[in-house]
Amino acid sequence: MDRVALESHRVVLDPPLSTDVDDITRYCQDPLFERFLTVPWPYSRADAEYFVNDHIPTGWTTGDELTWAIRAERGGPLLGVIGLRVPTSDVGFWMGAEHRGRGHMSEALRLVADWTLGTGFAGIREIGWECIVGNAASASVARRCGFRFTGEGPSRIAHRDGSHPASWRGALRDTDDRAPKPGWPA
Ligand SMILES: CC(C)(COP(=O)(O)OP(=O)(O)OC[C@H]1O[C@@H](n2cnc3c(N)ncnc32)[C@H](O)[C@@H]1OP(=O)(O)O)[C@@H](O)C(=O)NCCC(=O)NCCS
Repeated sequence: MDRVALESHRVVLDPPLSTDVDDITRYCQDPLFERFLTVPWPYSRADAEYFVNDHIPTGWTTGDELTWAIRAERGGPLLGVIGLRVPTSDVGFWMGAEHRGRGHMSEALRLVADWTLGTGFAGIREIGWECIVGNAASASVARRCGFRFTGEGPSRIAHRDGSHPASWRGALRDTDDRAPKPGWPA
């Protein structure tokens, strides 16, 4: 499928480029990524090159996984990444440590949710989110974007050691408003 770029007055979402590899490699040294993400660990430059030059283009071509770079402006540096896994209709995201806490991720998730549910892309009517129990920053992003907390259980996505750690789950339906909902554990 054709690449889709999304934009608001606060963030630009477009495809990660090979010029983003150094930033991605640097951000992915963050120990939080070992704990909370399924990215390779330790993370090498070759992992970032594979991600940008192979994994992401394949995902867009097949339409199975849509991955965007998050930038503050067109042509600006990559600050973080957000992706929609289409067969499971769920989102995943990370932000480089020095760019956190400025609302960029919440804005990026809003854009991806609005586009996915607004266009009815791939027939998706509900977007799922999950994080490892205790990842309050991730939960806060989902809560701010209007996701409902749907409970706790083993992660649907296997961790890098094959385990399914206890995870918090949330969901946003196309009929939901985007106001924060009560009932979140963090
Ligand atoms: C989760 C993550 C993407 C959030 O990015 P961000 O840029 O801080 O997101 P935003 O600025 O849009 O929103 C930050 C929210 O998280 C809260 N937050 C940030 N760090 C927090 C922490 N350590 N504990 C609790 N809340 C935290 C902020 O207060 C804010 O919520 P609020 O508006 O209710 O106060 C970022 O922390 C990250 O990349 N973490 C490591 C990777 C990861 O865990 N990804 C998600 C996997 S499911």
